[in-house]
Amino acid sequence: MHVIVTGGSSGIGLEVARLYLGTGANVSIIARDGTRLEQARLDLEGSGAGSSGRLRVASADVAVESDLQAAVSACEAAFGPCDVLIASAGIVEPALFEDQSSEIFARQIQTNLFGTVNSLRAIYPSMKARRSGRIMVISSGAALIGIHGYTAYCASKSALVGLVEALATEASPFDVRISICFPPDTLTPQYEAELPKRSVEARRMMGAAPAWRPEAVAAKIVRAVDRGTSRVTFGFSLTALGWFGPLIKPVVYWWYAATAQKHTR
Ligand SMILES: NC(=O)c1ccc[n+]([C@@H]2O[C@H](COP(=O)([O-])OP(=O)(O)OC[C@H]3O[C@@H](n4cnc5c(N)ncnc54)[C@H](OP(=O)(O)O)[C@@H]3O)[C@@H](O)[C@H]2O)c1
Repeated sequence: MHVIVTGGSSGIGLEVARLYLGTGANVSIIARDGTRLEQARLDLEGSGAGSSGRLRVASADVAVESDLQAAVSACEAAFGPCDVLIASAGIVEPALFEDQSSEIFARQIQTNLFGTVNSLRAIYPSMKARRSGRIMVISSGAALIGIHGYTAYCASKSALVGLVEALATEASPFDVRISICFPPDTLTPQYEAELPKRSVEARRMMGAAPAWRPEAVAAKIVRAVDRGTSRVTFGFSLTALGWFGPLIKPVVYWWYAATAQKHTR
């Protein structure tokens, strides 16, 4: 089995890669920074998760379709066609809408939405032709409710819902299963960089639930891929939002507005 993990050099993607290596799969991880990729290789090989022959690293920006396609082709030349794609590459930059430059807003859309589109373009057609394959798109709990200071991120991650649900209708007759998951706050380098930029309002809305460990999030993702679960939520609040969002969100937004501090500017 060949598993490709975009964003596999860090955080959730790295732990997913470790789990698949542990099952004996061939694993390719794709990310931009070559140094971080090599560190991930040393980490994965050092932890005994896999022998060097079953792990491949490739550098590409998921937002650049030709680069990603070249990286996927190189990985498939080594390990054969991709059987499982985990699209985990993603970025977040919290800021008030009017304070965020259009470049940083666009970069989040380019990476989180178009990076996933490019990953699907590079891998899905061959799965469809072979009538076999599993894809897990990593969205976020931020796709399930609007969060103060996260306009670009919420937009990019909720757009993935429409993308996955529409493509799944095209893919299911060909036995290609496309799933989406909505991770909660997870203790990764991304979360550690993001937390100091999170507004008081966002903290109020998101509550005080402790962040998950990336190993636990990865284990749930791998289990869901094995079972072919189409939609994966984590913890009570996000699971409730995931299934009953249209009922719950108006109440949350009402409470949020009623208890918000009024600003003069
Ligand atoms: N951590 C959380 O609390 C949380 C919660 C919900 C959802 N998520 C989502 O889960 C996914 C993984 O997040 P994480 O927390 O594990 O983040 P992370 O530790 O920062 O890892 C992100 C990975 O994506 C890669 N990446 C970023 N931009 C890329 C690009 N343009 N092209 C290729 N690779 C790229 C990074 O490597 P390079 O920078 O070297 O490219 C890295 O390997 C993301 O989609 C994130 O939005 C995270």
